[in-house]
Amino acid sequence: MTTQQTGPEENHPLRVGIIGTGGIAHAHAGALLQQEGIELAVAIDVEPSRSEAFADKFAIGRTAVSLADALNNGALDMVAVCTPPSSHQPLALEALSYGLHVVIEKPPALSLRQMRELQHAEAASAGSVSCIFQHRFGSAAQRLVSLQSLGLLGKPLVGACNTFWFRDQAYFDVPWRGRWDVEGGGPTMGHGIHQFDLLTHVWGPWAEVTAFASKLARQTDTEDVSAAIVRFESGAIATITSSVISPRETSQLRLDYEFATVELEHLYGYSNNNWSFTPAPGSEELRAAWASDDDVASGHLAQYKAIVDALSTGSPASVSLQDAYATMELAAAIYASSLTGMPIERGQIDEANPFYSRMDGHLEPWKQQEASKA
Ligand SMILES: NC(=O)c1ccc[n+]([C@@H]2O[C@H](COP(=O)([O-])OP(=O)(O)OC[C@H]3O[C@@H](n4cnc5c(N)ncnc54)[C@H](O)[C@@H]3O)[C@@H](O)[C@H]2O)c1
Repeated sequence: MTTQQTGPEENHPLRVGIIGTGGIAHAHAGALLQQEGIELAVAIDVEPSRSEAFADKFAIGRTAVSLADALNNGALDMVAVCTPPSSHQPLALEALSYGLHVVIEKPPALSLRQMRELQHAEAASAGSVSCIFQHRFGSAAQRLVSLQSLGLLGKPLVGACNTFWFRDQAYFDVPWRGRWDVEGGGPTMGHGIHQFDLLTHVWGPWAEVTAFASKLARQTDTEDVSAAIVRFESGAIATITSSVISPRETSQLRLDYEFATVELEHLYGYSNNNWSFTPAPGSEELRAAWASDDDVASGHLAQYKAIVDALSTGSPASVSLQDAYATMELAAAIYASSLTGMPIERGQIDEANPFYSRMDGHLEPWKQQEASKA
Protein backbone atom coordinates (compact mmCIF):
# COMPACT_ATOMS: atom_id res chain seq x y z
CA MET A 1 0.00 0.00 0.00
CA THR A 2 1.39 3.39 -0.91
CA THR A 3 0.37 6.49 0.93
CA GLN A 4 1.97 9.83 0.94
CA GLN A 5 1.23 12.71 3.22
CA THR A 6 1.11 15.94 1.29
CA GLY A 7 -0.73 19.20 0.95
CA PRO A 8 -2.34 21.03 -1.92
CA GLU A 9 0.81 23.07 -2.40
CA GLU A 10 2.82 19.92 -3.32
CA ASN A 11 3.30 18.94 -6.94
CA HIS A 12 0.28 16.67 -7.01
CA PRO A 13 -3.22 17.37 -5.77
CA LEU A 14 -4.43 16.17 -2.38
CA ARG A 15 -5.89 12.76 -3.26
CA VAL A 16 -9.09 12.23 -1.28
CA GLY A 17 -11.18 9.12 -0.68
CA ILE A 18 -14.76 9.44 0.51
CA ILE A 19 -15.76 6.57 2.80
CA GLY A 20 -19.53 6.06 2.96
CA THR A 21 -21.36 7.40 -0.10
CA GLY A 22 -24.83 7.98 1.38
CA GLY A 23 -26.64 11.24 2.13
CA ILE A 24 -24.03 13.57 3.65
CA ALA A 25 -21.22 12.36 1.35
CA HIS A 26 -22.79 14.52 -1.37
CA ALA A 27 -22.11 17.66 0.69
CA HIS A 28 -18.47 16.54 1.15
CA ALA A 29 -17.92 15.83 -2.54
CA GLY A 30 -19.60 19.09 -3.59
CA ALA A 31 -17.47 21.09 -1.13
CA LEU A 32 -14.22 19.28 -1.98
CA LEU A 33 -14.72 19.88 -5.70
CA GLN A 34 -14.77 23.62 -5.04
CA GLN A 35 -11.37 23.63 -3.30
CA GLU A 36 -8.08 24.25 -5.08
CA GLY A 37 -5.65 21.34 -5.45
CA ILE A 38 -8.04 18.50 -4.61
CA GLU A 39 -8.59 15.28 -6.53
CA LEU A 40 -11.56 13.09 -5.60
CA ALA A 41 -9.65 9.83 -6.09
CA VAL A 42 -11.94 7.05 -4.87
CA ALA A 43 -15.48 6.42 -3.61
CA ILE A 44 -15.56 3.75 -0.89
CA ASP A 45 -18.69 2.01 0.34
CA VAL A 46 -19.55 -1.45 1.64
CA GLU A 47 -22.41 -1.34 -0.90
CA PRO A 48 -20.75 -1.21 -4.35
CA SER A 49 -23.97 -0.05 -6.04
CA ARG A 50 -23.84 3.13 -3.91
CA SER A 51 -20.17 3.91 -4.51
CA GLU A 52 -20.61 3.33 -8.24
CA ALA A 53 -23.59 5.70 -8.54
CA PHE A 54 -21.71 8.26 -6.43
CA ALA A 55 -18.54 7.92 -8.52
CA ASP A 56 -20.60 8.45 -11.68
CA LYS A 57 -22.23 11.59 -10.26
CA PHE A 58 -18.96 13.22 -9.17
CA ALA A 59 -16.72 11.82 -11.96
CA ILE A 60 -14.58 9.85 -9.49
CA GLY A 61 -12.28 7.39 -11.27
CA ARG A 62 -12.26 4.50 -8.78
CA THR A 63 -14.52 2.71 -6.33
CA ALA A 64 -13.61 0.33 -3.49
CA VAL A 65 -15.36 -1.62 -0.75
CA SER A 66 -12.89 -0.72 2.01
CA LEU A 67 -9.99 1.64 2.72
CA ALA A 68 -7.49 -1.24 2.44
CA ASP A 69 -8.98 -2.15 -0.95
CA ALA A 70 -8.72 1.51 -2.06
CA LEU A 71 -5.06 1.75 -1.01
CA ASN A 72 -4.18 -1.46 -2.85
CA ASN A 73 -5.06 0.25 -6.09
CA GLY A 74 -3.66 3.75 -5.65
CA ALA A 75 -2.25 6.30 -3.23
CA LEU A 76 -4.34 8.57 -1.01
CA ASP A 77 -3.55 11.59 1.15
CA MET A 78 -6.86 12.13 2.96
CA VAL A 79 -10.18 10.42 3.64
CA ALA A 80 -13.56 11.87 4.54
CA VAL A 81 -15.44 9.49 6.84
CA CYS A 82 -19.16 9.81 6.02
CA THR A 83 -20.43 6.50 7.42
CA PRO A 84 -22.85 5.93 10.32
CA PRO A 85 -21.40 7.01 13.69
CA SER A 86 -20.19 3.68 15.13
CA SER A 87 -17.67 3.27 12.29
CA HIS A 88 -16.24 6.82 12.53
CA GLN A 89 -13.55 6.14 15.11
CA PRO A 90 -12.44 2.68 13.82
CA LEU A 91 -12.16 4.01 10.25
CA ALA A 92 -10.29 7.12 11.45
CA LEU A 93 -7.86 4.92 13.43
CA GLU A 94 -7.28 2.79 10.33
CA ALA A 95 -6.67 5.86 8.15
CA LEU A 96 -4.27 7.35 10.74
CA SER A 97 -2.35 4.05 10.83
CA TYR A 98 -1.64 4.60 7.11
CA GLY A 99 -0.53 8.20 7.77
CA LEU A 100 -3.58 9.74 6.09
CA HIS A 101 -5.32 12.97 7.01
CA VAL A 102 -8.89 12.34 8.16
CA VAL A 103 -12.08 14.40 8.10
CA ILE A 104 -14.78 12.84 10.30
CA GLU A 105 -18.48 13.58 10.20
CA LYS A 106 -20.20 14.32 13.48
CA PRO A 107 -20.18 12.86 16.01
CA PRO A 108 -16.45 12.12 15.66
CA ALA A 109 -16.71 9.16 18.04
CA LEU A 110 -19.24 7.45 20.30
CA SER A 111 -17.55 8.17 23.63
CA LEU A 112 -14.90 10.22 25.40
CA ARG A 113 -12.75 7.07 25.57
CA GLN A 114 -12.85 6.78 21.77
CA MET A 115 -11.97 10.48 21.49
CA ARG A 116 -8.85 9.99 23.68
CA GLU A 117 -7.85 6.92 21.62
CA LEU A 118 -8.12 9.04 18.49
CA GLN A 119 -5.96 11.77 20.02
CA HIS A 120 -3.26 9.21 20.87
CA ALA A 121 -3.41 7.73 17.35
CA GLU A 122 -3.20 11.18 15.77
CA ALA A 123 -0.11 12.00 17.87
CA ALA A 124 1.60 8.86 16.53
CA SER A 125 0.59 9.43 12.89
CA ALA A 126 1.75 11.68 10.06
CA GLY A 127 -1.95 12.38 9.49
CA SER A 128 -4.24 14.82 11.28
CA VAL A 129 -7.94 14.71 12.18
CA SER A 130 -10.53 17.40 11.44
CA CYS A 131 -14.03 17.02 12.88
CA ILE A 132 -17.04 18.34 10.96
CA PHE A 133 -18.82 21.06 12.96
CA GLN A 134 -19.69 23.29 10.04
CA HIS A 135 -21.61 26.01 11.90
CA ARG A 136 -18.38 27.46 13.28
CA PHE A 137 -17.41 28.52 9.78
CA GLY A 138 -20.09 30.95 8.61
CA SER A 139 -18.68 34.49 8.47
CA ALA A 140 -21.27 35.78 10.98
CA ALA A 141 -20.13 33.31 13.66
CA GLN A 142 -16.52 34.26 12.98
CA ARG A 143 -17.42 37.97 13.24
CA LEU A 144 -19.15 37.30 16.55
CA VAL A 145 -16.06 35.54 17.94
CA SER A 146 -13.90 38.41 16.79
CA LEU A 147 -16.12 41.16 18.33
CA GLN A 148 -16.32 39.18 21.54
CA SER A 149 -12.55 38.71 21.77
CA LEU A 150 -12.04 42.43 21.17
CA GLY A 151 -14.22 43.01 24.24
CA LEU A 152 -16.74 45.07 22.28
CA LEU A 153 -19.78 43.09 23.44
CA GLY A 154 -18.90 43.06 27.13
CA LYS A 155 -19.34 40.00 29.31
CA PRO A 156 -21.46 37.03 28.13
CA LEU A 157 -24.42 36.81 30.49
CA VAL A 158 -27.31 34.55 29.50
CA GLY A 159 -28.04 32.38 26.47
CA ALA A 160 -30.42 29.89 24.90
CA CYS A 161 -29.45 27.19 22.42
CA ASN A 162 -32.40 25.35 20.91
CA THR A 163 -32.54 22.55 18.40
CA PHE A 164 -36.23 21.94 17.83
CA TRP A 165 -36.29 19.45 14.97
CA PHE A 166 -38.86 16.87 13.82
CA ARG A 167 -38.06 13.28 12.90
CA ASP A 168 -40.97 10.88 12.41
CA GLN A 169 -40.97 7.24 13.47
CA ALA A 170 -39.81 6.04 10.02
CA TYR A 171 -36.57 7.97 10.58
CA PHE A 172 -35.82 5.81 13.62
CA ASP A 173 -36.66 2.58 11.80
CA VAL A 174 -33.30 2.82 9.93
CA PRO A 175 -31.18 0.19 11.78
CA TRP A 176 -28.31 2.46 12.87
CA ARG A 177 -30.53 5.21 14.29
CA GLY A 178 -31.58 5.68 17.88
CA ARG A 179 -29.19 3.08 19.32
CA TRP A 180 -26.58 3.82 21.96
CA ASP A 181 -24.11 1.30 20.48
CA VAL A 182 -24.38 2.58 16.89
CA GLU A 183 -25.32 6.26 17.14
CA GLY A 184 -24.06 6.98 20.64
CA GLY A 185 -27.30 8.69 21.71
CA GLY A 186 -30.37 10.53 20.45
CA PRO A 187 -30.82 14.21 19.52
CA THR A 188 -28.21 15.36 22.05
CA MET A 189 -25.43 13.48 20.20
CA GLY A 190 -26.96 13.49 16.73
CA HIS A 191 -28.78 16.80 16.21
CA GLY A 192 -28.41 19.40 18.99
CA ILE A 193 -24.65 18.85 18.97
CA HIS A 194 -24.37 21.22 15.97
CA GLN A 195 -25.87 24.12 17.91
CA PHE A 196 -24.19 23.55 21.26
CA ASP A 197 -20.86 23.06 19.50
CA LEU A 198 -21.32 26.59 18.17
CA LEU A 199 -22.35 27.82 21.64
CA THR A 200 -19.25 26.34 23.33
CA HIS A 201 -17.03 27.49 20.47
CA VAL A 202 -18.21 31.07 21.05
CA TRP A 203 -18.57 31.09 24.85
CA GLY A 204 -15.58 28.92 25.71
CA PRO A 205 -15.15 26.37 28.47
CA TRP A 206 -18.26 25.25 30.30
CA ALA A 207 -18.05 24.54 34.02
CA GLU A 208 -21.18 22.67 35.18
CA VAL A 209 -24.35 21.12 33.75
CA THR A 210 -27.72 20.04 35.12
CA ALA A 211 -29.98 18.24 32.65
CA PHE A 212 -33.04 16.14 31.96
CA ALA A 213 -33.55 13.72 29.06
CA SER A 214 -36.69 11.81 28.19
CA LYS A 215 -38.14 9.53 25.58
CA LEU A 216 -41.56 11.08 25.05
CA ALA A 217 -42.86 10.28 21.58
CA ARG A 218 -40.70 7.89 19.49
CA GLN A 219 -39.89 4.19 19.65
CA THR A 220 -36.10 4.37 20.06
CA ASP A 221 -33.54 3.16 22.60
CA THR A 222 -32.34 6.71 23.32
CA GLU A 223 -33.81 10.02 24.43
CA ASP A 224 -35.90 11.96 21.92
CA VAL A 225 -35.48 15.22 23.85
CA SER A 226 -33.03 16.66 26.38
CA ALA A 227 -32.88 20.00 28.19
CA ALA A 228 -29.86 21.30 30.08
CA ILE A 229 -28.76 24.31 32.09
CA VAL A 230 -25.07 25.08 31.66
CA ARG A 231 -22.85 27.42 33.66
CA PHE A 232 -19.75 28.55 31.79
CA GLU A 233 -16.37 29.30 33.36
CA SER A 234 -17.05 32.97 32.59
CA GLY A 235 -20.10 32.78 34.88
CA ALA A 236 -22.58 33.02 31.97
CA ILE A 237 -25.60 30.70 32.06
CA ALA A 238 -27.31 29.08 29.07
CA THR A 239 -30.09 26.60 28.45
CA ILE A 240 -29.70 23.92 25.77
CA THR A 241 -32.65 21.98 24.33
CA SER A 242 -32.14 19.19 21.79
CA SER A 243 -35.38 17.73 20.40
CA VAL A 244 -36.49 15.67 17.42
CA ILE A 245 -40.19 15.78 18.34
CA SER A 246 -40.96 19.46 17.66
CA PRO A 247 -43.41 20.01 14.76
CA ARG A 248 -42.29 23.60 14.00
CA GLU A 249 -38.64 23.03 13.31
CA THR A 250 -36.00 25.63 14.07
CA SER A 251 -32.42 25.97 15.30
CA GLN A 252 -31.88 28.96 17.58
CA LEU A 253 -29.06 30.59 19.43
CA ARG A 254 -29.59 33.65 21.61
CA LEU A 255 -26.59 35.21 23.31
CA ASP A 256 -27.10 38.13 25.67
CA TYR A 257 -23.97 40.13 26.39
CA GLU A 258 -23.60 43.25 28.53
CA PHE A 259 -23.80 45.51 25.47
CA ALA A 260 -25.86 43.54 22.89
CA THR A 261 -28.13 40.59 22.19
CA VAL A 262 -26.97 38.44 19.26
CA GLU A 263 -29.48 35.97 17.82
CA LEU A 264 -29.39 33.26 15.17
CA GLU A 265 -32.45 31.49 13.79
CA HIS A 266 -32.09 28.96 10.97
CA LEU A 267 -32.66 25.29 10.32
CA TYR A 268 -29.67 23.38 8.90
CA GLY A 269 -27.38 26.25 7.92
CA TYR A 270 -27.22 30.02 8.05
CA SER A 271 -26.12 33.12 6.22
CA ASN A 272 -26.13 36.75 7.45
CA ASN A 273 -29.93 37.04 7.07
CA ASN A 274 -30.41 34.47 9.81
CA TRP A 275 -28.70 36.66 12.42
CA SER A 276 -29.95 39.68 14.31
CA PHE A 277 -28.07 42.14 16.46
CA THR A 278 -29.71 44.31 19.13
CA PRO A 279 -27.46 46.77 20.97
CA ALA A 280 -28.20 47.59 24.60
CA PRO A 281 -29.47 51.14 25.24
CA GLY A 282 -26.45 53.45 24.99
CA SER A 283 -24.44 50.98 22.86
CA GLU A 284 -26.09 51.76 19.48
CA GLU A 285 -22.69 52.48 17.88
CA LEU A 286 -22.02 48.70 18.01
CA ARG A 287 -24.36 48.20 15.03
CA ALA A 288 -21.58 49.46 12.77
CA ALA A 289 -19.12 46.90 14.16
CA TRP A 290 -21.60 44.08 13.53
CA ALA A 291 -22.55 45.16 10.00
CA SER A 292 -20.51 43.45 7.26
CA ASP A 293 -20.71 42.69 3.54
CA ASP A 294 -18.87 39.45 4.19
CA ASP A 295 -21.55 36.75 3.95
CA VAL A 296 -20.12 33.24 3.94
CA ALA A 297 -22.80 30.64 4.68
CA SER A 298 -22.14 28.00 7.32
CA GLY A 299 -21.66 24.57 5.80
CA HIS A 300 -19.26 21.97 4.50
CA LEU A 301 -17.92 24.31 1.82
CA ALA A 302 -16.76 26.88 4.39
CA GLN A 303 -15.31 24.24 6.72
CA TYR A 304 -13.44 22.45 3.91
CA LYS A 305 -11.84 25.75 2.93
CA ALA A 306 -10.52 26.00 6.51
CA ILE A 307 -9.42 22.33 6.48
CA VAL A 308 -7.54 22.65 3.20
CA ASP A 309 -5.97 25.99 4.27
CA ALA A 310 -4.80 24.40 7.54
CA LEU A 311 -3.27 21.43 5.72
CA SER A 312 -1.46 23.60 3.21
CA THR A 313 -0.01 25.91 5.89
CA GLY A 314 0.67 23.20 8.48
CA SER A 315 -1.70 24.90 10.96
CA PRO A 316 -3.66 22.90 13.56
CA ALA A 317 -6.63 20.94 12.21
CA SER A 318 -9.91 22.71 11.95
CA VAL A 319 -11.93 21.55 14.07
CA SER A 320 -9.25 19.65 16.02
CA LEU A 321 -9.92 16.61 18.21
CA GLN A 322 -9.13 18.73 21.25
CA ASP A 323 -11.75 21.30 20.25
CA ALA A 324 -14.29 18.57 19.56
CA TYR A 325 -13.54 16.89 22.90
CA ALA A 326 -15.02 19.87 24.76
CA THR A 327 -18.26 19.50 22.78
CA MET A 328 -18.36 15.72 23.26
CA GLU A 329 -17.67 16.19 26.99
CA LEU A 330 -20.69 18.49 27.20
CA ALA A 331 -22.84 15.83 25.48
CA ALA A 332 -21.56 13.21 27.94
CA ALA A 333 -22.31 15.53 30.87
CA ILE A 334 -25.87 16.18 29.65
CA TYR A 335 -26.45 12.41 29.57
CA ALA A 336 -24.68 11.83 32.91
CA SER A 337 -26.68 14.53 34.67
CA SER A 338 -29.96 13.34 33.12
CA LEU A 339 -29.41 9.72 34.06
CA THR A 340 -27.95 10.22 37.55
CA GLY A 341 -30.01 13.23 38.63
CA MET A 342 -26.81 15.02 39.68
CA PRO A 343 -25.06 18.15 38.37
CA ILE A 344 -21.87 17.30 36.46
CA GLU A 345 -18.72 19.41 36.41
CA ARG A 346 -16.33 19.57 33.46
CA GLY A 347 -13.51 17.07 34.04
CA GLN A 348 -15.67 14.89 36.28
CA ILE A 349 -16.23 12.26 33.57
CA ASP A 350 -12.80 10.66 33.83
CA GLU A 351 -11.67 7.16 32.84
CA ALA A 352 -13.23 5.62 35.95
CA ASN A 353 -16.65 7.11 35.19
CA PRO A 354 -19.15 4.84 33.35
CA PHE A 355 -20.16 7.77 31.11
CA TYR A 356 -16.57 7.92 29.79
CA SER A 357 -16.97 4.77 27.72
CA ARG A 358 -20.65 5.06 26.79
CA MET A 359 -22.89 8.10 26.67
CA ASP A 360 -25.64 6.23 28.58
CA GLY A 361 -23.21 5.17 31.32
CA HIS A 362 -24.07 1.57 30.34
CA LEU A 363 -27.49 2.06 31.94
CA GLU A 364 -29.62 1.64 28.76
CA PRO A 365 -32.33 3.62 30.55
CA TRP A 366 -35.29 3.44 28.22
CA LYS A 367 -34.70 -0.14 27.18
CA GLN A 368 -34.95 -1.11 30.85
CA GLN A 369 -38.22 0.81 31.25
CA GLU A 370 -39.72 -1.05 28.30
CA ALA A 371 -38.50 -4.41 29.59
CA SER A 372 -40.09 -3.73 32.99
CA LYS A 373 -43.43 -2.79 31.35
CA ALA A 374 -43.50 -6.04 29.31
N1 LIG B 1 -22.84 17.55 9.34
C1 LIG B 1 -24.12 17.39 9.01
O1 LIG B 1 -24.87 18.38 8.84
C2 LIG B 1 -24.68 16.01 8.84
C3 LIG B 1 -25.92 15.84 8.21
C4 LIG B 1 -26.39 14.53 8.02
C5 LIG B 1 -25.65 13.44 8.48
N2 LIG B 1 -24.47 13.66 9.14
C6 LIG B 1 -23.67 12.54 9.66
O2 LIG B 1 -23.08 11.85 8.56
C7 LIG B 1 -22.96 10.45 8.86
C8 LIG B 1 -23.62 9.65 7.74
O3 LIG B 1 -24.98 9.99 7.65
P1 LIG B 1 -25.81 9.74 6.31
O4 LIG B 1 -27.15 10.33 6.57
O5 LIG B 1 -25.03 10.20 5.14
O6 LIG B 1 -25.91 8.13 6.32
P2 LIG B 1 -26.34 7.19 5.12
O7 LIG B 1 -26.91 5.97 5.76
O8 LIG B 1 -27.14 7.94 4.10
O9 LIG B 1 -24.94 6.81 4.40
C9 LIG B 1 -23.96 6.04 5.05
C10 LIG B 1 -23.21 5.25 3.96
O10 LIG B 1 -22.10 4.60 4.58
C11 LIG B 1 -21.99 3.27 4.05
N3 LIG B 1 -21.24 2.49 5.03
C12 LIG B 1 -21.65 2.03 6.23
N4 LIG B 1 -20.63 1.45 6.90
C13 LIG B 1 -19.54 1.55 6.10
C14 LIG B 1 -18.18 1.15 6.23
N5 LIG B 1 -17.74 0.55 7.33
N6 LIG B 1 -17.35 1.41 5.20
C15 LIG B 1 -17.78 2.02 4.07
N7 LIG B 1 -19.06 2.42 3.89
C16 LIG B 1 -19.93 2.19 4.90
C17 LIG B 1 -23.41 2.83 3.83
O11 LIG B 1 -23.49 1.76 2.91
C18 LIG B 1 -24.05 4.14 3.30
O12 LIG B 1 -23.93 4.24 1.89
C19 LIG B 1 -23.61 10.27 10.23
O13 LIG B 1 -22.61 10.26 11.22
C20 LIG B 1 -24.49 11.49 10.39
O14 LIG B 1 -24.67 11.87 11.76
C21 LIG B 1 -23.97 14.91 9.30
